[in-house]
Amino acid sequence: MKDKLAPIDTLSLRQAKAEHARLADEIAANDRLYYQEDVPALSDADYDALRRRFEALEAAFPELVRPDSPSQTVGAAPSAKFAKVRHKVPMLSLGNVFSDEDVSDFVARVRRFLGLGADAPLEITAEPKIDGLSCALRYEFGRLVQAATRGDGFEGEDVTANVMTLKEIPQRLKGSAPDIFEVRGEVYMTHADFAALNEREASSGKAGFANPRNAAAGSLRQLDPAVTASRPLRFFAYAWGEVSALPADTQLGMVGAFVDYGLPVNPLMKLCHSAEDLLEFYHGIADQRASLGYDIDGVVYKVNSIGLQERLGFVSRAPRWATAHKFPAQQATTVLRGIDIQVGRTGALTPVARLDPITVGGVVVSNATLHNEDEIARKDIRIGDTVVVQRAGDVIPQIVSIVESKRPSGAKPYEFPQVCPVCGSAAIREIDAKTGTADVVRRCTGRLICAAQAVEGLKHFVSRNAFDIDGLGEKQIEQFFAEGLIRTAADIFTLEARDRRSLQRLQNREGYGETSVRNLFAAIEARRQVPVNRFIYALGIRHVGETNARRLARHFGAFGALHATARLAGEGTEARAEITNIAGIGSVVAESIADFFQEKHNEEVLDALLKYVTPTPMEEIVSASLVAGKTVVFTGSLEKMTREEAKAQAERLGAKVAGSVSKKTDLVVAGPGAGSKLDKAKEFGIETIDEDEWLRRAGAVE
Ligand code: IVH
Repeated sequence: MKDKLAPIDTLSLRQAKAEHARLADEIAANDRLYYQEDVPALSDADYDALRRRFEALEAAFPELVRPDSPSQTVGAAPSAKFAKVRHKVPMLSLGNVFSDEDVSDFVARVRRFLGLGADAPLEITAEPKIDGLSCALRYEFGRLVQAATRGDGFEGEDVTANVMTLKEIPQRLKGSAPDIFEVRGEVYMTHADFAALNEREASSGKAGFANPRNAAAGSLRQLDPAVTASRPLRFFAYAWGEVSALPADTQLGMVGAFVDYGLPVNPLMKLCHSAEDLLEFYHGIADQRASLGYDIDGVVYKVNSIGLQERLGFVSRAPRWATAHKFPAQQATTVLRGIDIQVGRTGALTPVARLDPITVGGVVVSNATLHNEDEIARKDIRIGDTVVVQRAGDVIPQIVSIVESKRPSGAKPYEFPQVCPVCGSAAIREIDAKTGTADVVRRCTGRLICAAQAVEGLKHFVSRNAFDIDGLGEKQIEQFFAEGLIRTAADIFTLEARDRRSLQRLQNREGYGETSVRNLFAAIEARRQVPVNRFIYALGIRHVGETNARRLARHFGAFGALHATARLAGEGTEARAEITNIAGIGSVVAESIADFFQEKHNEEVLDALLKYVTPTPMEEIVSASLVAGKTVVFTGSLEKMTREEAKAQAERLGAKVAGSVSKKTDLVVAGPGAGSKLDKAKEFGIETIDEDEWLRRAGAVE
């Protein structure tokens, strides 16, 4: 929205009409981006400001209100890719308040409407406003039968299969819920899960999500429920839709019933008795916001008595008995002092803004992401600019805009480096052969002669899902690399023998006692044999994350077989076709594998490494399997893999998979919704484990 808008009372009807039409379009466009495409273009604060201006226009010029006006609708129509679900009770939105005064007005309005005197008791609940996406879960006779997104408030998207994969959402309610019980709440992702997901996405060459809300929305609105299942989504129940009976007569009582039924609820909800209480709650939550571990964008106040809620009813798109008290956007302005370019393991050049330190929402920020070179050009960000920094639900602070009026004279457009700042090799944007478009990411072509790529590659090599060497973390890798002790992966295994004095040198280093050095050498020694899939993953081949490494390991069995094939896998060869034919491995991955093994330097590093390390072939892993020779039954829904995958995995590990439970069954793997097979397993006293435990046992040897 433009900064300077004429005061509404100075507008003519013609001007108001023009602005009303423009704002309606703008709101509709932003709703579409937010609700359907999960890529909001405006910050929440800007969006709210847009809506407030729009509503003020309609209040001053009621003749402008149309039934399809954004003030009369919520969100955006559901996307065409999902089946539609008509909400029996519309899923409406909430009005907003922003200031302490607004909160007092809200309470006063409720009292006035109900004819309550200033001293008459009035209970209002307060709870965090979760920044996720709302979802309605319909239970019939205690069973989850349907799940839908809000959509436009009247019609949402059918996401039943996806929601069924959420661990926190029970497939069956506990206790005695009403026959029809539609519970509503927010699907969200924690900061920790979001960070891990983005790391995983990045390691398989994907762009990742901008913030936990987008990640949650993108994960829930997947056409393939298996993708949703692999994403760590959570849920807080806070409202209800159609119900055949109400188990309580207050908001708090309903939330208590949710708990009895086994539904997760937010633990911070509180009962308040005055506007002062509400404000105390609001400020208390604002103080805790940074440490909650999930994003909230305000608090919600609700009249506690359901009887009073019914009397208060709704105005247009929001209840009169509830409101959202939104946090101001966490923004601040500071000066951009420089742009550093970080070089990642795959050579990606990532620009990072170095800022004059500034407190944004209680956290000191001195770096912010600039995403990529197009983003810098699009916003015309220049060194020396005064910039608006935002931490609105984002884990990594972002630069939202620049303050053009404060640009120092002589500030020049930023020129993104064309060579790697670490090794000086050319940095290029690859052209997608199919689309002819340039990749948004510029990459260093120096591969392993690039110190940055080498260090990042080594960090990857020792990381938890690769060699996982105790006592050799990112910090130690950086130190050892800088001192020339470790330059390539093979050097790790010669550290002890190569440099007799290294023990002493390491000891002198801070935090390194004799014991830690001995432990480190022992940990390295223990890794001279690693499962072949871990070995492949550790090589850091682009697009070969854990899953693809496992696929390759399964297909080739021994590393030697992969090595021999990949070496000959030039374009159009039989060897290339063999790799492309592995289920789940496409042409981009196959090309990347072939490129890796065709590079002479990689071959040298690999030859050296194989002198010290033996990748354990797949068959040996199988014979060591914890489940080898056992008869296994899978029941209920699996969340991390398909039935076929589970069966194939079990068989690969030497187990036999049966369809029904009998006395001969050794192990039952039960997921949510497991029914009679689970009962039978219990009856026969058969060991029963969940999917995670299964994966642990399978993973312990893979
Ligand atoms: S109550 C009739 N409680 O905020 C109103 N909503 O801006 C029912 N939200 O659509 C909603 N946390 O997606 C309620 N504790 C909470 C909430 C909450 C987040 C979302 C919800 C709603 C939107 C309104």
